[in-house]
Amino acid sequence: MNTFIPISKPSITEKEISYVTDAVSSTWISSLGKYIDRFEADFATFCNVKYGVSTANGTVALHLALVALGIGKGDEVIIPDLSFIATVNTVLQTGAVPVFADIDPYNLCIDPKAIEKVVTSSTKAILPVHLYGHPADMKAINEIALKYNLVVIEDAAEAHGATINGQKVGSFGSCGCFSFYGNKNITTGEGGIITTNDEALYHKLRYLRDHAMSKEKRYWHTECGYNYRMTNMQAALGCAQMDRVDELLEQKKKIFKTYESYLSGIPGISLNRTYDWATNAYWLVCLEIENYDEVKRDAFMQRLKESGVDSRPYFYPMSAMPYLEQADTPVTYALSQRGLNLPTYFDLTEDEIKYICDVVKQSL
Ligand SMILES: Cc1ncc(COP(=O)(O)O)c(C=O)c1O
Repeated sequence: MNTFIPISKPSITEKEISYVTDAVSSTWISSLGKYIDRFEADFATFCNVKYGVSTANGTVALHLALVALGIGKGDEVIIPDLSFIATVNTVLQTGAVPVFADIDPYNLCIDPKAIEKVVTSSTKAILPVHLYGHPADMKAINEIALKYNLVVIEDAAEAHGATINGQKVGSFGSCGCFSFYGNKNITTGEGGIITTNDEALYHKLRYLRDHAMSKEKRYWHTECGYNYRMTNMQAALGCAQMDRVDELLEQKKKIFKTYESYLSGIPGISLNRTYDWATNAYWLVCLEIENYDEVKRDAFMQRLKESGVDSRPYFYPMSAMPYLEQADTPVTYALSQRGLNLPTYFDLTEDEIKYICDVVKQSL
């Protein structure tokens, strides 16, 4: 096989092309138009929540949610150390202080036991991340939040459709934030959404998203707001994806199962692990190699690349970034070096997965 197999690629069919073409032809190309309302309603229904507030991307969804929930200077927000950098940056952008908690090595999500260790009188919120498609333990997290009177914001950017005891992520916290970047299970190109059941929060999010413009008086702004709106063109793409959401999520499951059938039983490696209380959205197939460090992992990825197989390293601990202070999160630091993600896109064929698995075996 001499083609290069990328890590991800969106699934674009005639439906996506026709909806986007319709949006463009309608001339409603900015943030008003029929697809926006439809996409927000479709996604809220999908998560079984009352409201969806679409945004320009997942990063600003997180920022908007934090601001709308009143998080700011002097507040502490507890986050896992293993995540995409937007999780910590958006906390910093509000003026609040991010406090890192270690992860549960089984699902790579924030460890509820680690949360309780870092709660202080300044803690205002917990921001769990459903990493690589696996939900964080929201039952335990919500119990801690109740005990200490904290707000919970789910970072569900990577876990569209994942469930806990049958309930979709994005419906457990005060709100859930999703990304629709081109490599996600559902894409709008760039895009995001905040899901919530809280009517007051819903109105606040919409108001802040649109420059905090007064409802009664146009171009009158009662505070400093943002333009975090999604376009009708993005939403059109999203509506087509939502029409196909079951098919897309089923395909991710099938891809993982195929990898599992070729790689299970090989000593020293493990793939995504899923708790019995959860269903995994399998955003990305994870491969962890026992006793590897960053150097060995990167050399392994280089061998995959030489055989035409793309991969990506697990996220670095966010607290390892030069502008942050290193946290005491040993599980995050160990696993971050041991893991990588394998190609996980919708059109992967069984032959391609078999080829990738053969390359993995040879490269170990
Ligand atoms: C966990 C997590 N949070 C937030 C984001 C930010 O989303 P976006 O890239 O749409 O801004 C991402 C994006 O990939 C993510 O993986």
